[in-house]
Amino acid sequence: MSALTKLYEGKAKVLYTTDRSDILLADFKDDATAFNAQKRGSIQGKGAINCSISSKLFQQLEAHGIKTHYIDNPTPNQMRVRAVKIVPIEVVVRNIAAGSLCQQTGLPLGTVLKQPLVEFYYKNDPLGDPLLTRDRLLLLELATPEQVDGITHLALQINDFLINFFKRCDITLVDFKLEFGLDSQQQLLLADEISPDTCRLWDNSAGDDPNRRVLDKDRFRRDLGNIENAYQEVLQRVLKAVEEL
Ligand code: TMP
Ligand code: ASP
Repeated sequence: MSALTKLYEGKAKVLYTTDRSDILLADFKDDATAFNAQKRGSIQGKGAINCSISSKLFQQLEAHGIKTHYIDNPTPNQMRVRAVKIVPIEVVVRNIAAGSLCQQTGLPLGTVLKQPLVEFYYKNDPLGDPLLTRDRLLLLELATPEQVDGITHLALQINDFLINFFKRCDITLVDFKLEFGLDSQQQLLLADEISPDTCRLWDNSAGDDPNRRVLDKDRFRRDLGNIENAYQEVLQRVLKAVEEL
């Protein structure tokens, strides 16, 4: 199956049509952006690493009954995916306070949350992806009430699975972002990617050192260096954890 035309270019991936209308090809780029693309760079090998990590996690989630858009990998930085209509919401799940939660609420970095926090952000670059309330989300008709409930339930199930999976990698899952899509039967599928670009991952073996423990895109956002090594480390630990299953 060959890639046909470019359908959409995002900050981290390019989507191509294929010779089947129900299948798209996602090409993962090495480009890195942060702060709504105000900061730009490139992380060598990131496309292939993120594609591999996402693919392994999607396969594991599928095996646990979570439906995803993942099909297979024609090349290391390409993923064939089921075509879906993306729900224009970024779903963030948090287990530990970090990032915008600390900035907006004053909670100290590293505060363990009593229960996971599920948040919705409007996937809208010109507006800067603002935090939404459920009522605003419904007002804008970004999803139906049933879809919001379904997305929340899936996000919490995915969080339970990922917390345990990353624990086996000696990594703490601080928070992460998910995107969902609807297939032709209006079924919710997990879409986009799950990678060090979209998660905060802390290395348990690095202790409490707030810089050394970071194995995710915060190394790029905060100019901590060693970004490729951190992403590669996550990939190696994910591969080992899958092998040991
Ligand atoms: P935040 O603390 O900046 O709101 O980020 C929460 C989580 O969501 C974190 O794991 C990084 C991820 N994220 C994305 O994947 N894309 C984004 O555009 C943003 C802002 C965050
Ligand atoms: N991916 C987002 C951007 O580039 C923000 C981030 O991940 O920090 O705009």
